[in-house]
Amino acid sequence: MVGCGDVSIVHLQAIEKLADVELVGVCDTDQATRTAAAERYGVPEFAGHHEMIEAVRPDAVHICTPHHQHVPVAIDCLDAGVAVLVEKPVGHTLAEADRLLAAARLHPHVKVGVCLQNRYNTATRTAHNLLRSGQLGAIRGGSATVFWHRDAAYYRARPWRGRVRDSGGGVLINQAIHTVDLMEWLIGDVASARGHAGRYALVGIVDVEDTAHLLLDHTNGARSVVFATVTNVTDSPVTIEIVTERAVLLIRGDLTVSYADGRIETVAEPVVSTGGRAYWGASHELLIADFYRTLADPDPFWIGPDEGIKSLRVISQIYQPQGRTTD
Ligand SMILES: NC(=O)c1ccc[n+]([C@@H]2O[C@H](COP(=O)([O-])OP(=O)(O)OC[C@H]3O[C@@H](n4cnc5c(N)ncnc54)[C@H](O)[C@@H]3O)[C@@H](O)[C@H]2O)c1
Repeated sequence: MVGCGDVSIVHLQAIEKLADVELVGVCDTDQATRTAAAERYGVPEFAGHHEMIEAVRPDAVHICTPHHQHVPVAIDCLDAGVAVLVEKPVGHTLAEADRLLAAARLHPHVKVGVCLQNRYNTATRTAHNLLRSGQLGAIRGGSATVFWHRDAAYYRARPWRGRVRDSGGGVLINQAIHTVDLMEWLIGDVASARGHAGRYALVGIVDVEDTAHLLLDHTNGARSVVFATVTNVTDSPVTIEIVTERAVLLIRGDLTVSYADGRIETVAEPVVSTGGRAYWGASHELLIADFYRTLADPDPFWIGPDEGIKSLRVISQIYQPQGRTTD
């Protein structure tokens, strides 16, 4: 484990549940953080990932560091022949993510997974299967909302989250990236994106955006919109609604499919305790189990950097200086 902060708890709990996976070391640049994790799990602690890789020769490394520390650590792991499971986003900039993509191509036999765990949610998997089955007809378009709450305390607790230099951005790259990924995975590849990212509630506290909207043109002709903000008073469930020729699919935790003939089907999302925050979703464990289940397979992990970079490409179109307005 590299980076033993908030999200690492979910990864560590998932690893603990896997009978054939053993945690062999933890690494964090912050001494108190790494010592707490090492003591809790009874494993050696390291201040740097080079030292850890050298000492314990892991089969895989989980990268749960701030965004700007994803790619440098991942490339070092790949160069050492160690598989990586990197938290979203792949990198804090598109250029960094491209560097990882190139490194992964140089090491085709070393696995790279990207933690976009919401693709494993029961509702999204069912929706994906239905949309690909052809029984709903053509996809016309869709909409999504991310109405979450991140106040000054959230950014003060982890200042990197509020600094473009370290995080690459705010609500888009940090929170809504999951939803942008799902819109693309469910509706189809995105050909172009327009939109706006701005800062409304956190002026003077962060230099990242807290609110953004996107208009997506998908290659199959469908169009969709995403509105995301962390200025909401609470963490509302993410909503995704997709209109097809023969039905409307609504994901809001559960999946509801309303057919043209009046039938309504609901698929419930199981409630799972992950050790993390409920709004992170319930599927980290499923993704991590799948990553290890397929670790020895010759094929790349299905959510590799080439998949993970897609949502970053979309977001980066909004982050381009001419498209980006803050304050
Ligand atoms: N998939 C999800 O739903 C989800 C949810 C929350 C966070 N995340 C992602 O997880 C990552 C970490 O987020 P967090 O909230 O846990 O952050 P955090 O700040 O709580 O933890 C990051 C830890 O990494 C350590 N660190 C920094 N640079 C390091 C380096 N070079 N080597 C080793 N340790 C280093 C820090 O000291 C800190 O303890 C981010 O990419 C974030 O976007 C994903």
